[in-house]
Amino acid sequence: MAEKIRCSAITVAFMAMILLAATSVFSDDTIPVPADKAQVTTWFNANVKPLAERKDLDPPLVTAEKEKKVIKVMKDGSGDFTTITDAIKSIPAGNTKRVIVHIGGGVYNEKIKIERSKPFITLYGSPNNMPNLTFGGTAFHHGTVDSASLIVEPDYFVAANIIISNSAPRPDGKRAGAQALALRISGDKATFYNCKLFGFQDTLCDDKGKHFFKDCMIQGTVDFIFGSGKSIYLNTQLNVLGDSGMTVIAAQARVTDTNDIGYSFVHCEVTGTGTGTYLGRAWTAMPRVIYAYSTMSGIVNPEGWSDNMKPENDKTVYFGEYKNSGPGADPSKRAKFTKQLTEAEAKPYLTLGFIEGSKWLLPAPTL
Ligand SMILES: *[C@@H]1O[C@H](CO)[C@@H](O)[C@H](O)[C@H]1NC(C)=O
Repeated sequence: MAEKIRCSAITVAFMAMILLAATSVFSDDTIPVPADKAQVTTWFNANVKPLAERKDLDPPLVTAEKEKKVIKVMKDGSGDFTTITDAIKSIPAGNTKRVIVHIGGGVYNEKIKIERSKPFITLYGSPNNMPNLTFGGTAFHHGTVDSASLIVEPDYFVAANIIISNSAPRPDGKRAGAQALALRISGDKATFYNCKLFGFQDTLCDDKGKHFFKDCMIQGTVDFIFGSGKSIYLNTQLNVLGDSGMTVIAAQARVTDTNDIGYSFVHCEVTGTGTGTYLGRAWTAMPRVIYAYSTMSGIVNPEGWSDNMKPENDKTVYFGEYKNSGPGADPSKRAKFTKQLTEAEAKPYLTLGFIEGSKWLLPAPTL
């Protein structure tokens, strides 16, 4: 009898172990994004599981997500606030809970800054009626990186279904400091789902920290994604307004060998007007930018990339391409200092491990 009991106790313990192993699923940081775009959603859902099925998430994030609070911004007064600024003000410094700011449709003419002390904020719009956060700040009045309509400094920020634009006029090459950002993201572990960013020069300052953009659209003219972030852009349209002046998509700002940052564009779409667009340029000496499985229209300069007319940068830049397609992706005339990556070279940029997704990346919020 005693034997039997011990036996079944062992069996039960063993079964529990199997069950535990089967249910405590994670975000997988090692399985690369598939080459077939039709498989991306399946890949994403399999590797970025909801909170309840995760085990390696940052503990403060788990705590924050367990107690969500929704506050509503409606221009007509039917919500808790009529401006986004007031909604953000209501969130205390040292915030420890996920606060979803649900923003109704319409144009919000506000210059919004979310302070470093307010982590776990989500800005959420309805996908059918996306709010337009806009302001006309320029470098002349605010300095380049503070000209953004939305400045986000805290960690664990999420935006879904939001338009962020800068309504300052397009730089004409005469007015000083005419560059005008839509968004600056300076916090770590930030996620953007289905957001649209509109500007001209310097639309997005992807400033610092690990970031994930999915199903977004980013429009601009020159250096319109720039900074020292470490980011994956998945299934995102990069739309170039290229009818006058030089056009450049990415001006990644890596400066040393040991600086573990860079931009990875995967299954993106390079579109727009004009000709001669550079996929990236060496604004600093050691930028790291790759494009994989992306489509490129004929707007792209056949050379692909710019060393910023400094031949000494040719040895230090990391500009890579992997299995892109379309008329702009032809490798035959690419500048010598660029690389067509091997599968092994591309892999680190194709997995969520690049941004340590298993610690923080969660599926898109829904309300
Ligand atoms: C956002 O609002 C600005 C200012 O009214 C406007 O210029 C811009 O076209 C709007 N963007 C979108 C996508 O609706």
